[in-house]
Amino acid sequence: MTSGQWWIVALSEQLAPGKTLAVVCDGVQVALFRSAEGEAFALEDRCPHRRVLLSPGQVRPGGLQCPYHGWTFDGTSGRCTDIPNLRRDEKIPPAAARAYPVAELNGFLHVYSGSGEAQEALPGAGYQAAGREFTGSAVTAVAFEDYLDVMLDGPECLLDFPGVTITDFFIGDPRRDGGYLVLDRGAVWKGRGLGPAFVRDHPLLLRTRVPLAGGDVVVELLDAAEQALVTLFIAATRNRRGTTSLVWRGFAHGRAQTGPLGWRLHRLAGAAPFTVHAIVDGRAIAALEAAPSRERRGGGEASTRPVQETSHEYG
Ligand code: FES
Repeated sequence: MTSGQWWIVALSEQLAPGKTLAVVCDGVQVALFRSAEGEAFALEDRCPHRRVLLSPGQVRPGGLQCPYHGWTFDGTSGRCTDIPNLRRDEKIPPAAARAYPVAELNGFLHVYSGSGEAQEALPGAGYQAAGREFTGSAVTAVAFEDYLDVMLDGPECLLDFPGVTITDFFIGDPRRDGGYLVLDRGAVWKGRGLGPAFVRDHPLLLRTRVPLAGGDVVVELLDAAEQALVTLFIAATRNRRGTTSLVWRGFAHGRAQTGPLGWRLHRLAGAAPFTVHAIVDGRAIAALEAAPSRERRGGGEASTRPVQETSHEYG
């Protein structure tokens, strides 16, 4: 792991009591497990005895039991707490698996990587469901840094909103907001045409908040009054060999029941108001012009200007 920060690695519901889950956190494989009482723990997914994976092991009252020789490791300290068939004159050796702090908030499981005291602020604090949720997880064949860049340069390569076309028209400049770069793009309802070629109204905005350091991406589909129709929170962490682990939760706001007929029918049918693509089109990504992402990589000072242009629905 490369940095000291909290990473979202899984949805809470992916880890049932008494079960384990193998995840990758900032490039390192971690064995998550949940005790029968419901507390979640994280150990490096390597047994300190003979380096086999711990994640296929069993959850025991004393911690996670290695599937090879049956040593059990405490979830908080990582220390070995039990060895089967130990003779009376033998002692448990001071072997310990690396243990990571774990925190759960708003349906996300967080693991703290790096050394030192874990910061209090959790990325999942930035998400609060206010409608029926749609969730998922995937490993996508795009490197972590590139994933964040593409979210700025061409979010339509990574996600989709049914009945909506994301345009390449920026509404204002990229701007810094805390540790995020924020960019607004125009969007239009499908089936209504793109309108005139040069002066185009955009009844929708796609607001993308991309972390400068990495972690959680927040995408909002907004109406012309900048009221959110859909909120999508995508947590990203570096997986291995140039891939990225994704975990997401999102929902449609109550006002998303308005809009064109196709969108309203979609909403009434209870269908997901967005799709996060796990399989991406490499050609489309390669063809993107790297413009807003230069700001994220420190290529320029992003504007602190507010959005300059508001848009209105056209008929
Ligand atoms: S390899 Fe895990 S207990 Fe031996």
